[in-house]
Amino acid sequence: MTDLLASERLAGLAQAAYIIAGVLFILALAGLSRHETAKRGNVFGMTGMVIALVATVVLALRQTALPGFSSSVPLTLVLIAAPMAVGAVIGIWKARTVQMTGMPELIAVLHSFVGLAAVLVGYNSFLAAGPATHDAGAMGTIHAVEVFLGVFIGAVTLTGSAVAYLKLSAKMRSAPLVLPGRHWLNLAVLLASAGLLVWFVLDDEGAALVPLAVMTVLALWLGFHLVAAIGGGDMPVVVSMLNSYSGWAAAAAGFMLSNDLLIITGSLVGSSGAILSYIMCKAMNRSFVSVIAGGFGSDGVVAGQARDYGEHREVQAGEVAQLLADAKSVVITPGYGMAVAQAQYPVAEMTRKLREKGVEVRFGIHPVAGRLPGHMNVLLAEAKVPYDIVLEMEEINDDFGATDVVLVIGANDTVNPAALEEPGSPIAGMPVLQVWNAKEVIVFKRSMATGYAGVQNPLFFKDNTRMLFGDAKERVEDIVRTV
Ligand code: TAP
Repeated sequence: MTDLLASERLAGLAQAAYIIAGVLFILALAGLSRHETAKRGNVFGMTGMVIALVATVVLALRQTALPGFSSSVPLTLVLIAAPMAVGAVIGIWKARTVQMTGMPELIAVLHSFVGLAAVLVGYNSFLAAGPATHDAGAMGTIHAVEVFLGVFIGAVTLTGSAVAYLKLSAKMRSAPLVLPGRHWLNLAVLLASAGLLVWFVLDDEGAALVPLAVMTVLALWLGFHLVAAIGGGDMPVVVSMLNSYSGWAAAAAGFMLSNDLLIITGSLVGSSGAILSYIMCKAMNRSFVSVIAGGFGSDGVVAGQARDYGEHREVQAGEVAQLLADAKSVVITPGYGMAVAQAQYPVAEMTRKLREKGVEVRFGIHPVAGRLPGHMNVLLAEAKVPYDIVLEMEEINDDFGATDVVLVIGANDTVNPAALEEPGSPIAGMPVLQVWNAKEVIVFKRSMATGYAGVQNPLFFKDNTRMLFGDAKERVEDIVRTV
């Protein structure tokens, strides 16, 4: 067994397995880009991960079996298997119990773990190699830079993701934290870190731990500040940006550990997260740099709250059912409230019944509806709503004028005309679903409360809008019974 493990051939096989896993990860990303192929993409990803894990364990055992290594193969196996088993139990429990609405928070926590891992790998890599690395010529310098950048990106990801978790789970106010001169503070931290990098790389007196530790504290603060300064409506960009950071942190860990697969995987996550952030920014009409710099488009004051928009009008489920039965074309624009209420199943049933009656039913999906990229698409696919009637915002926005009834189910910020009409609003400039152009608009929600961005919605007070109060699932079920 030990001879087999020590053989060169096994190491070669493990490296080949890494390449196969890398290709499977690329196929997974390609598959995940479309509804129809998403399931297959997930299968590719899972297969790649199993291959990667087996190959990594084999490589670790091989290293143990090489002459001069202090641990034994069985001990290494136990040291790997025990934490993996604990992690698997926690992971399976979490995956089974998490609500769809709790996914963004869970993802934020998982990103913070990647950040923490990169910090720990960085310190371990530095302490294990010792200060002597700095005397090791160009390779030593490269390693020192890898360690420093890995710890920096990891620390920013760690606290940034922790704040994102607190904001998304409403444990911290979603309003931006606006410190005086905040951009200068961030710039000062970046410049100080650059100076500390030079000290860290050039140090030859064994004091390199000092700049590394000081930079870690500064980077932890920077991560906290960058995300705390971003207001509620811009959080989607932050989630995808932290996704990207976690990828770069993993890639940095891959460089430190000389693990090619971790470099490939980290780069894939980093670049796909960056592309997603760019798409999100475009969808929200935000400048990427401004969002990252924090607090863009908002001075922390929630505009529109004190304005008097007039009276809203209510409607009952029975009347809505009649309205729908008489309509030729209906558009449903779901939002976060549909996810909270788990209303996608009765919504799918209502859609089926209306289509059977010859009513044209389509869905209009805002790119940041819900709390996750693609949140609404996932819910509707889960409830088996046909893909071809689920349209993107740009595909449907011009059709509202010719629509008889729009059902706004648990959406708020994504259908708020203030984004177009009130330049001082925190969501000003964000493209929205222009549902108010339809003949009738029915808004399903429980109260007149604001949405995630904390902005009042003038749509609720328009002449062609009526409010259907209550839990979205119960109200849609009421309609399904009558329609
Ligand atoms: P929101 O603006 O968050 O509004 C959701 C509405 O659903 C609320 O006004 C709420 O009103 C209603 N609601 C909640 N539970 C309900 C229930 N059980 N039944 C009926 N209604 C219910 O939703 P949106 O239009 O989807 O906009 C998303 C917001 O989240 C945007 O501001 C976006 O920037 C932000 N965000 C998005 C993401 C991503 S990536 N999608 C990530 C982070 C943040 P009541 O309380 O009165 O019922």
